[in-house]
Amino acid sequence: MVLTLDRPSLRTDAALKPPLKWAGGKRWLVEHVRPYWEQFRDRRYVEPFCGGLAMALGLQPGYALLNDMNAHLINFYRHLQDGLQLDILTGHDNDRQVYLQRRERFNALIHANACYGNESAQLFYFLNKTGYNGLCRFNKKGEFNVPFGKYKRINYREEAFPEYSQALAEWRFVSGDFEQVGVRSGDFIYADPPYDVPFVQYSSYGFNWADQERLAGWLAAHDGPVILSNQATPRIMELYHDYGYVTKELPAPRRISCNGNRTPAVEVLAFKNIRV
Ligand SMILES: C[S@@+](CC[C@H](N)C(=O)[O-])C[C@H]1O[C@@H](n2cnc3c(N)ncnc32)[C@H](O)[C@@H]1O
Repeated sequence: MVLTLDRPSLRTDAALKPPLKWAGGKRWLVEHVRPYWEQFRDRRYVEPFCGGLAMALGLQPGYALLNDMNAHLINFYRHLQDGLQLDILTGHDNDRQVYLQRRERFNALIHANACYGNESAQLFYFLNKTGYNGLCRFNKKGEFNVPFGKYKRINYREEAFPEYSQALAEWRFVSGDFEQVGVRSGDFIYADPPYDVPFVQYSSYGFNWADQERLAGWLAAHDGPVILSNQATPRIMELYHDYGYVTKELPAPRRISCNGNRTPAVEVLAFKNIRV
């Protein structure tokens, strides 16, 4: 069964920038994915690894189901939908002591099992902007442990995020492993898992080779259009071809260390149920 939606999904407002810094952001890939999405814009858009939201904000689907394993990130987006205000900011925010105090408060809320409220969402935004490189990393006790970022200047939002609450209004946010996301027959899926490279950790959730295999198999079984992006390593290419994906390679705007050389990275887009 192919699911079509009864409301037009075309949006006319210009694409918004991702509200957070997020490792592996795919803004640069939006124009490569758009022509395929345009063929299916009446479908529900599903992103099992939504991260910084670059693709969803770029494509602007009318209806979307967006998932990420990082529950703090999803909590932030849910509060954005409700018009998050930044009451914690004082004008003296880019300061090491302030950073450490707020990081401690964020971790105290985690320990108290009270980390999905409005205050945590605000703190998450602050820590993302002020911490080192926008990293999101937790120690074994589940505490956020990214050091102070030492930026000269940070442009914090001064008030609420009204444009985001509007753009995200019809999207549903869930958090869990990708297989739990609840896809329906005919959904358009764009999946951008953590890259197939050693030592990559976007949060405390590692993503190993068995997960790459599990993902390729799970998506291959879906009956709707699927686009999967990854780093085009030899074993990823072999895995995707074994599952019958049609692949396209693209130069990525980043470099990888290879025998001491910094060679340009190659990205793969893998397609199922889409004419390429
Ligand atoms: C490459 S990033 C996605 C980046 C996103 N496309 C963007 O443009 O910002 C991969 C994301 O997968 C999430 N993740 C890791 N393991 C996961 C899992 N098993 N299920 C769902 N999400 C997972 C990470 O938290 C991270 O946000």
